[in-house]
Amino acid sequence: MRYAVLGTGEVGRTLGGKLVALGHEVTLGSRTGDSPAALEWVRETGGGAGTFAQAAAAAEVVVNAVGGRVALAALEAAGAEHLAGKVVVDVSNPLAFEDGRVRLDPVEADSVGEQLQRAFPHARVVKTLNTVNCQVMVDPARVPGEHVLFVCGADADAKAQVTALLGEFGWPAERVLDLGGIEGSRAVEMWLPLWLTLMQRFGHPDFNLELRRAR
Ligand SMILES: NC(=O)c1ccc[n+]([C@@H]2O[C@H](COP(=O)([O-])OP(=O)(O)OC[C@H]3O[C@@H](n4cnc5c(N)ncnc54)[C@H](OP(=O)(O)O)[C@@H]3O)[C@@H](O)[C@H]2O)c1
Repeated sequence: MRYAVLGTGEVGRTLGGKLVALGHEVTLGSRTGDSPAALEWVRETGGGAGTFAQAAAAAEVVVNAVGGRVALAALEAAGAEHLAGKVVVDVSNPLAFEDGRVRLDPVEADSVGEQLQRAFPHARVVKTLNTVNCQVMVDPARVPGEHVLFVCGADADAKAQVTALLGEFGWPAERVLDLGGIEGSRAVEMWLPLWLTLMQRFGHPDFNLELRRAR
């Protein structure tokens, strides 16, 4: 499969590296296409690099791995015509750092997942993976137990495709919970303040949610 991973931060490089290791064709997208981070990733992994638009144009599936507050800008740069009909996997969180504090923007009445789906109605946006650290995303065995991920989005086939991709990363389908439509993004994005508090409490990011229920 041909993937565009938009974002050269730790998350984009980690997801992109895993996809290359799994045998996929990956273009890491950034604003300029040749940032030092992108070129180093190319040297390390053998993947390709390009602008957001070049990466998205070449891809069958697009992964959004930039900050939630710049996600619209990155996908606009990618180009609506290069997203139409494609699965867009949104792993972002709308974290805003101000005065040494973190808050979410948007929050509660909206989410990045919904913003992206509204702005690109012909893209098939699936929100997932944003609830775990990027090393756990691609290696769930870092955390013991039957811990879970979530998917949400309007398109059932797109969610099935993303669930299969998560399987390649090591997440069994029974540990991927479908939350329904893309408005489920609000709930998973609002997990972040507690996730950050737990990381401070534990001193590391290798943890996740395991759900117990009666039925
Ligand atoms: N850290 C984790 O383990 C983790 C876990 C779950 C979810 N997430 C989420 O994953 C996303 C990526 O996080 P990250 O730390 O890897 O990367 P990041 O530092 O949040 O983002 C880096 C990327 O953002 C792009 N960017 C910055 N400003 C931009 C703008 N104004 N317009 C368009 N693009 C812009 C950069 O482009 P250039 O390459 O051109 O500089 C770069 O590719 C975030 O939403 C984060 O909340 C992170």
